Amino acid sequence: MNVQHANRKNEHLSLAEKFYQSAHHIDQFDQIRLVPNALPEMSTNEVDLSTNVAGLDFQWPFYFEAMTGGSPQAKVINNAFSKVAQQTGLAMATGSLSAIFRVPEYNDSFSIVRKNNPKGLIIANLSANATVEMAQKAIQLIDANALEIHLNVAQEMVMPEGERSIHWIDNIQRLVQSLSVPVIVKEVGFGLSKEIIQKLQAIGVQTVNVSGRGGTNFIQIEDRRNHAHDFNDLYNWGLTTPEALFESHAVNTINIIASGGIASPLDVVKAGVLGAKAVGVAGFFLHQYYKSGEDGLLASVHNWQTEITRIMTMLGCHHFAELPKVPYVLKPELLSYVQQRNLK
Ligand code: FNR
Repeated sequence: MNVQHANRKNEHLSLAEKFYQSAHHIDQFDQIRLVPNALPEMSTNEVDLSTNVAGLDFQWPFYFEAMTGGSPQAKVINNAFSKVAQQTGLAMATGSLSAIFRVPEYNDSFSIVRKNNPKGLIIANLSANATVEMAQKAIQLIDANALEIHLNVAQEMVMPEGERSIHWIDNIQRLVQSLSVPVIVKEVGFGLSKEIIQKLQAIGVQTVNVSGRGGTNFIQIEDRRNHAHDFNDLYNWGLTTPEALFESHAVNTINIIASGGIASPLDVVKAGVLGAKAVGVAGFFLHQYYKSGEDGLLASVHNWQTEITRIMTMLGCHHFAELPKVPYVLKPELLSYVQQRNLK
């Protein structure tokens, strides 16, 4: 069981990379065009990209989203990503810490993230059925500033060993009420709808990460990992990240984080225009790391930081939180979605 768990973590990494390379990337953010500002009357050094979400101060509006931990390979990845996070001021979420209750011999694959980055913004991650005690242990191991709870129904259903009985909401409420750090409820790449965001808000959740379709696809990953079933009719399951961001507009007072298919600085800015206060990136940076190592990852993050600053100037925006005032135009497919779901 323990070996199986560590193997699964390794297969997630290798399959995420394999499908990243082979995917015909349809940029879901291509459905949105931003209207440029030809007279911004500002300079790039006036742009301040820090952002506050869930009471957390992010130095940059994008961060390394939850990926891994719980195996020796995971430690190599977490070591590289946390070093780059420390050097660039990026926040970082770890992969699910449920591994520490199954394979405690690999706990250092998580704790290295804090060791390499003592002052950084680090977010723990757990499944929605974790107990309060488990959450406290996970937070303590990496001295986490916040906890992400992932909602991964589709992944569970495709996994042979996945959960078949999904009763999570009472436990999420318990976690939100009991923990001393901010709790972020996130999807894992299939998007949150307004109905679900409303339900989460009603139990006290203040921040959600809509994590939509467009990048890493866990139905595909689990389906190919187990070779047993063929769920390929579900490969387009879920809401795209722009669709899920429009869904979130129906819930006024909740903080929104975006992730899922973010693959460029312009995607980060477009997510900001659609109301995201911070933007998580997993598959794209994993691919940069596999392609060109820690140095390549570092260079890539630096490029994004520079380019986002320049795009902000092209839009006349000083702060990430100003982006929702930028005018935009939607392509027919996304516009139709927004109209049919009565969103705006
Ligand atoms: C993930 N993701 C993820 N999410 C989570 O909440 N807990 C986890 O343990 C993991 N594990 C994981 C492993 C690997 C290898 C990848 C690539 C991703 C999901 C991730 O945080 C994110 O929600 C999705 O991957 C969508 O973002 P991208 O990859 O399209 O940028």
